[in-house]
Amino acid sequence: MKFFLDTANVEKIKYFADMGLVDGVTTNPSLIAKEGRDFEEVVKEITTIIDGPVSAEVTALDSDTMVEQARELSKIHKNIVIKIPMTKEGIKAVHTVSKEGIKVNMTLIFSPAQALLAAKAGARYVSPFVGRLDDISHIGMDIIESIRLILDNYDFNCEIITASIRSPLHVVDAAQMGADIATIPPDVMDKLFNHPLTDIGLDKFMKDWESVFGK
Ligand code: E4P
Repeated sequence: MKFFLDTANVEKIKYFADMGLVDGVTTNPSLIAKEGRDFEEVVKEITTIIDGPVSAEVTALDSDTMVEQARELSKIHKNIVIKIPMTKEGIKAVHTVSKEGIKVNMTLIFSPAQALLAAKAGARYVSPFVGRLDDISHIGMDIIESIRLILDNYDFNCEIITASIRSPLHVVDAAQMGADIATIPPDVMDKLFNHPLTDIGLDKFMKDWESVFGK
């Protein structure tokens, strides 16, 4: 299973990359805006830290401009993957740019039907947003299971990025369901490490050692 980091914060990317935990990075307009830095500059810097797919999102709604932006963004680095939203215009854009060898991560996927359309149009990745489905009282992880089944039935060259992850449980569920990738926000990545029994156990080992051998 691959781990992507869902952030545009280069310090956080470096922090987890040093542990060998980052296979790629996903950004979106909200995450880029949060950093308050130039879009292309940030994305370029991320490609110097991570040798893996880095998603950069188009900001147009019409297919022609999406295609133009996709072509421009893909010039930044060979690892750039273009994020295109799941709309009819988006599907048209995926169909065009995927034939040019540009890799697309189709974003804002909320149903298995949308994922099927994206894969059919040529998307290299689909990003189902599980947390936002949970937010409206749908079990987000259910669509991961369905999309896995659909993609396994055929030979689409399309990987599932479990996105909009809100908790460690989403990551574990994604792994159990066979999602290819989880794109994880830094705060959730931190939480994956934690278990109170690890802390209690380590504390006891240290105290027992020190009681006999000193510090
Ligand atoms: C994924 O590619 C998206 O950028 C991200 O996971 C969205 O997460 P959110 O629903 O927490 O904003």
